[in-house]
Amino acid sequence: MTVIAPSILAADFARLGEETRAIAEAGADWIHLDVMDGHFVPNISFGPAVVKALRPWTDKLFDVHLMIAPADPYLAAFAEAGADAITVHAEAGPHIHRSLQTIRGLGKRAGVALNPGTPATLIEPVLDMVDLVLVMTVNPGFGGQSFIASAFETVSRVKALVADRPIGISVDGGVTPETAGPAAAAGADILVAGSAAFKGGPDRYRANIATIREAA
Ligand code: DX5
Ligand code: ZN
Repeated sequence: MTVIAPSILAADFARLGEETRAIAEAGADWIHLDVMDGHFVPNISFGPAVVKALRPWTDKLFDVHLMIAPADPYLAAFAEAGADAITVHAEAGPHIHRSLQTIRGLGKRAGVALNPGTPATLIEPVLDMVDLVLVMTVNPGFGGQSFIASAFETVSRVKALVADRPIGISVDGGVTPETAGPAAAAGADILVAGSAAFKGGPDRYRANIATIREAA
């Protein structure tokens, strides 16, 4: 079954707790939390304190996406704050293997993220260290962007590299009912959706999630 992971970057930041609960109750499988530092990406979102504040609002898996560099100094803080999966960017520093080792050592699921300009082959040396490969289908930093079509090829290549290993393949950015089907066909089994999940407000969340799931 396809996992739908709404990104709270698209939620009402003035009511993040209520929004997290609402999207969880509307059928989200995971909650995707986009952490941005204004350095690795040209935007700033939130840190471990917000993850900790949101933890009591739902039992859903917290899928924390670190768009920060360096990531290593903050891994323990996100683990203690309540992250269940922590994904770091392969481009965020020279020691992706050590970062993934650290995440696993903290008892969390480890993910590696690839920006649209990064080849899938970069993950080959760390395939035995990850539970999740996140393929960025937009340039990271903002929600509401359009899906980069060349990323479908990266998803397919990641799928071939992952082969029959128990590794989830996530696509993140520009996921809509129109792109969900081709992304799933290319090999994605986790769909991160921000604007497509949160559009129209809380009364629309259940329908938004169902529409994306049906399209996958
Ligand atoms: C972008 C983030 C994505 C983004 C998704 O840097 O990693 O998770 O919030 O938002 P949409 O679905 O609106 O592209
Ligand atoms: Zn993300």
